Amino acid sequence: MEVLRLCLMAIFGLVMALVIPSINAQVPEPAPAPTSDGVAIDQATPTLSISSFLNKEEFANISVNFLNLAKRPELFDWIVRIRRTIHENPELGFEEFETSKLIRNELDKIGIFYKYPVAVTGVVGFIGTGKPPFVALRADMDALAMQEEVDWKHKSKIPGKMHACGHDAHVAMLLGAAKILQEQHDDLQGTVLLVFQPAEEGGGGAKKMLESGILDNVDAIFGLHVSPRSPIGTVAASSGPIMAGSGFFEAVIKGKGGHAAIPQHTIDPILAASNIIVSLQHLVSRETDPLDSQVVTVAKFKGGSAFNVIPDFVTIGGTFRAFSKESFTQLKQRIVEVIKRQAAVQRCNATVDFDTKNRPFYPVTVNNKALHEQFRNVAGQMLGIDKILEKKPTMGSEDFSFFTEAIPGYFYLLGMVDETKGRFESGHSPFYRVNEDALPYGVALHASLATTYLLEHQLKSTTRDQNVHDEL
Ligand SMILES: *[C@@H]1O[C@H](CO)[C@@H](O)[C@H](O)[C@H]1NC(C)=O
Ligand SMILES: *[C@@H]1O[C@H](CO)[C@@H](O)[C@H](O)[C@H]1NC(C)=O
Ligand SMILES: [Zn+2]
Ligand SMILES: [Zn+2]
Repeated sequence: MEVLRLCLMAIFGLVMALVIPSINAQVPEPAPAPTSDGVAIDQATPTLSISSFLNKEEFANISVNFLNLAKRPELFDWIVRIRRTIHENPELGFEEFETSKLIRNELDKIGIFYKYPVAVTGVVGFIGTGKPPFVALRADMDALAMQEEVDWKHKSKIPGKMHACGHDAHVAMLLGAAKILQEQHDDLQGTVLLVFQPAEEGGGGAKKMLESGILDNVDAIFGLHVSPRSPIGTVAASSGPIMAGSGFFEAVIKGKGGHAAIPQHTIDPILAASNIIVSLQHLVSRETDPLDSQVVTVAKFKGGSAFNVIPDFVTIGGTFRAFSKESFTQLKQRIVEVIKRQAAVQRCNATVDFDTKNRPFYPVTVNNKALHEQFRNVAGQMLGIDKILEKKPTMGSEDFSFFTEAIPGYFYLLGMVDETKGRFESGHSPFYRVNEDALPYGVALHASLATTYLLEHQLKSTTRDQNVHDEL
């Protein structure tokens, strides 16, 4: 049995190794065309209607079946165990070595071929025919640099690190989906890519994964985030821009330090920085269309250490957000101008650094319209149409946006609130908890979205397949 499994894996691995280079050699999908306001418009996704392949009942059966498979007690226990193991051993962005190893061990056991390393610690698994269409499911793996304050059996064992955004649950759910998709892989009409991505929390792991080229021919990508705001058994999503593009800035305002009681012999950077912060607040309130949502927040102010000493310099830092590329670029330029010129008013010099190497700008997250329709069908049949809540856009950002910028993508929230289980704190709280009862829904949604996407797009790919006949 073991030998047979290893043999099959070796054969699949060989086939995939042959296929992947040719996948990459195919003509990539065109990049999204920017509209006048800079928001990437929905790419023209194939418009084959679901009804041409699947009737409503077949669709319903797929998602309901997957939910039943995901709710099996042995599968549930396995997912929960994985989630808790990861929770106990949180790792920061691009350091997810043990998490990545755990993922690969489980994929090995399930018999799923994968590529590693991708973007340092990332793993990409493959299930299905090895041929188009290609649909990707994404989970982020990183934790946060903060101390867990929840007292429970599986509390973080690493001081100062915590899974406080639910990425441990995301990994567990994608592994759960991997397992049930592998069980049903004979029904897959194409290939599912399992994307385990490093460094979502500011490091831009998604960008690095795209740069590796491994997703070059992916036709669509789905991602989810657990939500401490919406009830268990619901999902929240919408079409179009759902999360802002974001960037960070840091500025050093240089003056001349000296005695606090003899200000005429100094150049006071504290006062200059204070005026800069006030001026920055005018960018949104006075220079921006009130109907075009934007944010500038100065969240960091460091300078001085004594009551009677004016310091040499002050450091300020913060974030800026916008819902279009154009507004974002405009904000970025004005932040530099305001900081430098306002510093000059008070005889200080200022430098501004966006440090995009360590903190890349995140694009706007734009949900594809056709995928939104597919999602509503799948989630509606699985959970009931009344369980699909409308997600209002927020100024928060997600590096899933790098995917939606490059590939038709869809990102949704998975409800996990159960009032009988106490209060669920928002993400990045030291008291953050995941309701594990929500995990089977995420598993089933992943599996159903991938399966139905492939079924819907098999005809298109059959025609495309004939053009790349030599790929095996
Ligand atoms: C859907 O599932 C039900 C119950 O398992 C079954 O009776 C029915 O034939 C299925 N329908 C289709 C179209 O597969
Ligand atoms: C600012 O830069 C100018 C030009 O280099 C220099 O002359 C001036 O002394 C600087 N001022 C401060 C406060 O560092
Ligand atoms: Zn987070
Ligand atoms: Zn997160």
